[in-house]
Amino acid sequence: MTELAAEVSGDFAEAVLAGLALPRKVIPARYFYDQRGSELFEQITGLAEYYPTRTERWLLQHHAADLERLAGRGRPVVEFGAGSAAKTPLLLDATQARTYVPIDISGDFLAEAMEDLARLRPNLAIMPVAGDFTRPLDLPRLDGPLTGFFPGSTIGNFDHASAVDLLRSFRTTLGKDARLVIGIDTRKNAGLLEAAYDDAEGVTAAFNLNLLTRINRELDGTVPLDAFEHRAVWHSGFGRIEMHLVATRAVDFTVAGRRFALREGETIHTENSYKYTPEEARLLARASGWEPLAMWTDPDALFGLHVWTAGSGEAQP
Ligand code: AVJ
Repeated sequence: MTELAAEVSGDFAEAVLAGLALPRKVIPARYFYDQRGSELFEQITGLAEYYPTRTERWLLQHHAADLERLAGRGRPVVEFGAGSAAKTPLLLDATQARTYVPIDISGDFLAEAMEDLARLRPNLAIMPVAGDFTRPLDLPRLDGPLTGFFPGSTIGNFDHASAVDLLRSFRTTLGKDARLVIGIDTRKNAGLLEAAYDDAEGVTAAFNLNLLTRINRELDGTVPLDAFEHRAVWHSGFGRIEMHLVATRAVDFTVAGRRFALREGETIHTENSYKYTPEEARLLARASGWEPLAMWTDPDALFGLHVWTAGSGEAQP
């Protein structure tokens, strides 16, 4: 079973209790996004050190004409993990989409974002789907071939095997002749990467630590927040940024009545954010049944925007 399958099988309580019982403690990154976590992430996207958001926006604007040509003009756009849908208008406008299908797990956050988008684009047909995009989903009835949108390098949260599973399931969900517009963060020097995940204002630290606040609130936890600090490290061998919560002293606490202890210096691993060279990203496409059509990057090669095609829908022999 891959990590993806394990991640989707349980709820927050199950994931936390199982993850804290492991010799190397881990909580999957998907649990960052309660109301406060989603707000903190929005704040991260505006930080000077956090280059992905502004760079991807620039790429979507700069390549609007290319997107119209390659991503399919007028097609319905299906967004996986729509969240605040901040970049959505850029793709919808570039391809002149008339129908938009946002998929998101957090119904409330999605509803709010959709109200704003409906006001901004009164002629757009919005058909939200509340659900987990890591599982195969039934879409509403839509006209013609579809274009998937997976921005923000969300793919970076998945290990390589899970990323292949996920991208294959997108292909199944989207169907014949689909296109996928996907943002994938690039490998770059460790200094830039670590600053992006450990900003001077401490917003990313607050985002990471908010997971403990969520555990205390939702799972009747007694985790002392002052015993933990944020750490972000680039691991070149794995090609990923790792985020951890480090115990600054020996600590014990309970979660849902169960007892856990950490030694000083022991960590809870809370996030992986994988980075891909252009070649690695294209290999990822082919390994998951997609064919790369185009890849664009900014002058500093900080971020990659890719367009892939599903082809005729026949499985490769
Ligand atoms: C939403 C997974 C793309 O990995 O850059 C940002 C999450 N974590 N800062 C990323 C995140 C810390 C983000 N993704």
